[in-house]
Amino acid sequence: MPTPYRVAALIGSLRKDSLNRKLATALAGLSPPELVLQHVRIDDLPLFNPDHEQNPPEPAARVKREIEAADALLFVTPEYNRSIPGVLKNAIDTASRPYGRNSFAKKPGGVIGISTGAVGTAVAQQHLRTILAYLDVPTLGQPEAFIQFKDGLIAEGGEVTDENRRKFLQNWIDRFAEWVKRFAAPR
Ligand code: FNR
Repeated sequence: MPTPYRVAALIGSLRKDSLNRKLATALAGLSPPELVLQHVRIDDLPLFNPDHEQNPPEPAARVKREIEAADALLFVTPEYNRSIPGVLKNAIDTASRPYGRNSFAKKPGGVIGISTGAVGTAVAQQHLRTILAYLDVPTLGQPEAFIQFKDGLIAEGGEVTDENRRKFLQNWIDRFAEWVKRFAAPR
């Protein structure tokens, strides 16, 4: 089998019991063999300060390295106050700099999220799409995936208990894999 495409997965929540972390685990389990999801840790990043971008602190340099080593990007994020959480924006700002060394550039991306609110992260995802367009990330447009949490939807180990939701996520990750194959840089 050819080497799988490496997908850097950024999760927009630091919470231990994060629903979005569970969603990322579920997607890793449903991924076709041509994708391998690799979680990029962002909880040790200092707050971004342009004064340090030419000589970034080690966690920032590591995040940039991990993103640059990946073929594609997956953002799994909650919605905070109708936007993306600050921790995710901090990670994006960090890896986008210094000017001219944007680690995300030209890597195909996907955006998905789960929240307890009725719009299921739709507004946050729209904000994120604006950011990713600027960062030159071709982002999967369809299918969209706005997931509202219901009790027991995703088990601890990432199994999706609801049959319809599992099929929906399976289709989403399969379509994302096609997108990655189409837009990833030749290897
Ligand atoms: C939220 N939550 C939330 N939900 C939503 O659908 N739209 C929103 O704008 C907000 N705003 C918001 C702000 C802040 C500061 C918090 C802490 C929470 C609820 C959110 O969806 C819920 O806490 C999710 O469980 C967060 O995702 P994780 O941490 O479980 O991955």
